[in-house]
Amino acid sequence: MTKDINKEKFTEETKLKLDIFRECFREWFPVFLHNPYISRIYIYDLFAGSGSDAQGVPGSPIILLQEAMGNKKQHCIYLNKNGKPLVVFGFNEKISSKKLLLEDNVSKELSACQYHCSLSECAFSNSCNFESKDFKELIQNQTILSVLGNKNYGKFILLDQYGFKQITDEVFLKLINSPKTDFIFFIASSSIRRFKDEPSVKAYFKREKISFDESRPKECHRSITNYFRSLIPAEKEYYLHSFTIQKGTNYYGLIFGSNHSFGMEKFIKVCWAHDNFAGESNCNINNDFDKDSLFYNPLGTNKIQVVKDDITNHILAGDIEDNISGLKYALKYGCKPKLFIDVIESLLKNQKVKIDGQMNKTASNIHSAKLYKIRLL
Ligand SMILES: C[S@@+](CC[C@H](N)C(=O)[O-])C[C@H]1O[C@@H](n2cnc3c(N)ncnc32)[C@H](O)[C@@H]1O
Repeated sequence: MTKDINKEKFTEETKLKLDIFRECFREWFPVFLHNPYISRIYIYDLFAGSGSDAQGVPGSPIILLQEAMGNKKQHCIYLNKNGKPLVVFGFNEKISSKKLLLEDNVSKELSACQYHCSLSECAFSNSCNFESKDFKELIQNQTILSVLGNKNYGKFILLDQYGFKQITDEVFLKLINSPKTDFIFFIASSSIRRFKDEPSVKAYFKREKISFDESRPKECHRSITNYFRSLIPAEKEYYLHSFTIQKGTNYYGLIFGSNHSFGMEKFIKVCWAHDNFAGESNCNINNDFDKDSLFYNPLGTNKIQVVKDDITNHILAGDIEDNISGLKYALKYGCKPKLFIDVIESLLKNQKVKIDGQMNKTASNIHSAKLYKIRLL
């Protein structure tokens, strides 16, 4: 029987996971809040738990609520003034006693906030909806499906499952094919690796599509991410990135998905703030020199070097022909787009390429960067 995460003190690794959830949502929410084409924002936490750990430390639903308010209530103030978009929370927790506790915790959070609030109306007092359903059933629900399919609604989906069995290929495909929908899910990757030949795992993953390198257990979450990546149709522009969380000999992880480069820019920023070696783990996944070493070089870590070399080679082979493709390449390989700028500047300096059009150093909001072409010399 799985232990109840909310009945104990959150471990350091759980806190890291929650910090990443928090920072990811903190980046995501204002983008949709201030988008005039978005009429509603849906925030679904579909394995919500009871709202806190045994010591009252907030769990994901409370974290999402706090971030939607903003640390200086700036989002409440904006919503009060603007009157839109409508913000809706959907919290689901299968165990009904935990769902009741969650309702109580959310209500206490809102009351405590309202007690000190000078705004005339609370933007969130009627925003929270609670369900106690099995996720598998809920994700087939017509209301949820029509919300997911609506391109005027921004959706943030948090799936903090136990284990690995809930995010099936079908669920994943549903999420990546939903417009204006970003998601983040947790997955116990080492359990999949450990039990890869057992029927319980084979029933969920097409074994032939996962390749674990037994000599590199640290990389098992990467392999699982690659499994999900392999499900994305080749012609689809989609961004997927993962963060590995080591706990003892086990490796867990988060997988974030967005169909917009800006969504991924935001997530990459959060990941690199937690791991300045590779932006993808709490365990120095590429065995870089650590911070106490004489050879520690945060600007030239193994990951940075590999991706820079790749971008250079692709430019020189004529596969990356313009800045937008170069910026997106860096992003797709889990690096900040700025890496491309470093590469192109070095190629220009060494007279390997020329720019057709106006050179610019835009490395954020890359969807609106001005295009220039790269010509080989
Ligand atoms: C990892 S915990 C979530 C913790 C929560 N995110 C937090 O920060 O406190 C997973 C939760 O999902 C619930 N759960 C397990 N199976 C479920 C299912 N099939 N559908 C919905 N909820 C489920 C569990 O009862 C548990 O509370």
